[in-house]
Amino acid sequence: MTSAAGRLAAASGISELAAEAELARTSYGEGALVVCDRLVRIYALEGIEVQALQGLDLLIGKGELTAVVGASGSGKSTLMNILAGLDTPTAGSVQVAGHDLSGMTARERLSYRRQVVGFVWQQTSRNLLPYMTAWQNVVLPMRLRGAGRRERSARTAELLAVLGVTHCADRRPDQMSGGEQQRAAIATALANRPDLLLADEPTGELDSATAVDVFGALQRANAELGVTVLVVTHDPAVSAQVRRTIAIADGRTSTETLRHAAAEDGGLSQHAVEYAVLDRAGRVQLPLEMLEPLGMRDRVRLEAEPDHIGVWPDNPASRQPGQQQPAQQQPGEQP
Ligand SMILES: Nc1ncnc2c1ncn2[C@@H]1O[C@H](COP(=O)(O)OP(=O)(O)O)[C@@H](O)[C@H]1O
Ligand SMILES: [Mg+2]
Repeated sequence: MTSAAGRLAAASGISELAAEAELARTSYGEGALVVCDRLVRIYALEGIEVQALQGLDLLIGKGELTAVVGASGSGKSTLMNILAGLDTPTAGSVQVAGHDLSGMTARERLSYRRQVVGFVWQQTSRNLLPYMTAWQNVVLPMRLRGAGRRERSARTAELLAVLGVTHCADRRPDQMSGGEQQRAAIATALANRPDLLLADEPTGELDSATAVDVFGALQRANAELGVTVLVVTHDPAVSAQVRRTIAIADGRTSTETLRHAAAEDGGLSQHAVEYAVLDRAGRVQLPLEMLEPLGMRDRVRLEAEPDHIGVWPDNPASRQPGQQQPAQQQPGEQP
């Protein structure tokens, strides 16, 4: 290849890449049900600023059931409240099912909350009206939307059945167990066929057996009714059952764990792979448990390899004398 041809090839390669990058930029999140783009939420309280979300990126596809985990105070509820249309971001953009949540009028917001999202809170008492039966609670959102009588009855019966609380139809919340209340709450949240069901620690007040039960109900709602579910949980038993778990740390998505069933020796086993999230600026957060044993801090050295990138501690003392390339001491490198 002559150098002119080489330059030409390189140039066309670059322009192709640029076109691709442009496409990726304009189509970020295209086709996703939930698109959070550099979400920022700052609370200002008596002169003190709390950055609850610090540029959070998140994409969720239609029909997914995703768990969100993270330490207390990491921003999970802030994210849920924004997605629920109860709060607005300080900066960044957020779209749910094509609705841009930062630019809604009060009226649009009301109809968004009634028809596009459903939510279930941790406090069982916050989810259902105490003086109404389970049946009446499920019917109410449909009444507010103006749904006809026949539709209301059919949908209520269907939802109570899918969530396993048909026997509670005529009971008020104080006549139901905590688990039954949460399952009736899920039915109520689904009454108007929302695109997205948000559940913020829905099992947080329940014992572990009941929590498994309620989580099973969320899974059925996802599988049988096709609703996309985003559930915040502290319960590792819950997050172990979902295909995708997103960890939030300091107001950003930090890692994602994907689980898939794999056929092995005639049986099915679960494989979990933890991924670091690569944001659109190219930032990766490395887990502390990987950094600490290697004494990595402040800065690390990167080496581009044909099929991976190596990350090395910036510690001259750890190199063997006279060695230019640290090739022999690559810790944990995959062949
Ligand atoms: N209304 C509020 N006013 C001021 N600070 C808040 C408010 N809500 C949450 N925060 C702060 O924002 C951060 C994230 O809170 P939150 O989203 O509730 O976390 P999580 O649900 O992960 O425990 C915390 O530091 C919390 O104290
Ligand atoms: Mg919370």
